[in-house]
Amino acid sequence: MPLIITFAHQKGGVGKSTLAVNLYGWFSYAGYNCALVDTDPQGSLTHLLAAFGTQDGRKSVPLIRRGEFGTYGELADKLGPFDIAVIDTPPYLSRELMDVLSISHAAIVPCKASPLDGLAVQHTMDYINEIRRTQNSALTAAVVMTMVIAGTEFTEQIRAHLIASGLTVLQAQIGNRVAYARSLLKGNSVKAEDGGKAWAEIEALGAEIVDLLNRSKL
Ligand SMILES: Nc1ncnc2c1ncn2[C@@H]1O[C@H](COP(=O)(O)OP(=O)(O)OP(=O)(O)O)[C@@H](O)[C@H]1O
Ligand SMILES: [Mg+2]
Repeated sequence: MPLIITFAHQKGGVGKSTLAVNLYGWFSYAGYNCALVDTDPQGSLTHLLAAFGTQDGRKSVPLIRRGEFGTYGELADKLGPFDIAVIDTPPYLSRELMDVLSISHAAIVPCKASPLDGLAVQHTMDYINEIRRTQNSALTAAVVMTMVIAGTEFTEQIRAHLIASGLTVLQAQIGNRVAYARSLLKGNSVKAEDGGKAWAEIEALGAEIVDLLNRSKL
């Protein structure tokens, strides 16, 4: 069974698909046999990869699409040959999301660095905590601040508020960068973008998620 990392948030447009593609890219470049799974009926990743493919000559992305598996037990079977799976999910809380989280090892909740988004994240984390309590005690969960605008103080205020509410907030944070939007056009990672600044953020995010997973096993 591979390590399964799922991006989830009931809000749309917070960067779930973007971070899923880039984390997939990070694991692949590190030499892991990583799968990318699109469980979103919008099929954002499926459409993107079909439209643009990978434009940098690398091997094609092993994308598992919604519709290629019936139950989430079947998905787990499909993931058998992989070391790691990164799962993208739709922007709402559903029975299906519950099923995905019940086979996941980490749930990562991207939180846009704006005050209203800081409030919205709590509800998704409550939902994840309920799944941890009732179905999957091995699930670890954390918030990642994303679309952070350089030089804004309120990111730290939101981070402090979330931590004070008992949530785990990763140190790694993702900037508001055109490079991330561009990376989606390549169905790929930000490695070659923005002089490496965005990739450094993804590296820090990946390393911290791995660390979180290691610590949760203790
Ligand atoms: N760090 C970032 N900096 C700048 N733009 C970003 C960043 N992350 C995502 N975006 C842009 O924000 C938009 C929403 O991102 P994305 O589609 O990844 O969100 P999502 O949470 O998957 O949305 P949905 O819930 O609708 O599936 C996209 O246009 C994307 O290019
Ligand atoms: Mg999406």
